[in-house]
Amino acid sequence: MGLRRAIVLVALMEVTWSLNVMTIGPETVFSAHPEAAEENAEQEAAAAEEDVMATGELNPNHYPAQRAAKVVQHYLNMRYGSPYKLFGLKEVHSGNVEEVADSGRKYQLQISVQEIISNTEEKCSAEVFFPSGEKQLSPQVQIPSCEEILKLDATSEEEALYQQYKTNKTVHTEKPLPDSYGHIDPEMIPFWHLSIVATSFIMLKESTQNTLYNVAQVANITQLATENDQLKFDCHVLLHDLVSQEIPQVKLLFTWSPAEGVKVLHTEQLPHIHGCEKQAKPN
Ligand SMILES: *[C@@H]1O[C@H](CO)[C@@H](O)[C@H](O)[C@H]1NC(C)=O
Ligand SMILES: *[C@@H]1O[C@H](CO)[C@@H](O)[C@H](O)[C@H]1NC(C)=O
Repeated sequence: MGLRRAIVLVALMEVTWSLNVMTIGPETVFSAHPEAAEENAEQEAAAAEEDVMATGELNPNHYPAQRAAKVVQHYLNMRYGSPYKLFGLKEVHSGNVEEVADSGRKYQLQISVQEIISNTEEKCSAEVFFPSGEKQLSPQVQIPSCEEILKLDATSEEEALYQQYKTNKTVHTEKPLPDSYGHIDPEMIPFWHLSIVATSFIMLKESTQNTLYNVAQVANITQLATENDQLKFDCHVLLHDLVSQEIPQVKLLFTWSPAEGVKVLHTEQLPHIHGCEKQAKPN
């Protein structure tokens, strides 16, 4: 009972922290419902005790469905995200999971996806397959229906940003995004979005049925010189796994242009920070 209470408290601290620090980005979408977080934490504690992998209909508000749906968000950002297109998970309407003959588990979901910048929302169906086996493989995502939101066009904003930073300006952060007051310089918002999009490649790859990753903070992002048409960036990102409360740090080298989208050239995992240390030592 004491343990369960402690987990609930951690979850609630998390919500407060999220709302204070993360004014923009997918995490607020998930954290806007403290009651759901508490319920989720209770459920999680129960699930951790039993450690069962149920099949069949899922409660859409509980972790198994939420975690699988989060993978769809990472996939959408990886495939379609840009400095002016960022997808968030708004709601899970229904979910179902089945074992696939010794090869893994397949989730079928009905979800509402939001494009955060244009504030557009669409109900989509999605399938997420988690392969089983000793070597951890990336989940596979299919999105049979999600038409309108993927057609959103931000070409003119992307092109304008690209031209500026190709010719005239360079990105170099002095402060993390967001800073310890939850603020982001408006000029840096497209690069905060772009960093989340680039980090989605890692979040998708590292996701399992037992993780729920969000970007907590972009510690820094620096533009590097290039010889080609791409803009090139080096960034350090703090992820947050809501399930384990771990804060993995990753270093990413990636390029972006409106024509080619985001390409991740190199990633490096740095030592984890634990949730409580992060709380005790704000930047
Ligand atoms: C560079 O930026 C300045 C002001 O920010 C602008 O007046 C100028 O036209 C820009 N030059 C180019 C080549 O884009
Ligand atoms: C970026 O942040 C990381 C982690 O806080 C730090 O190790 C690194 O030196 C920083 N890089 C720059 C260019 O500020």
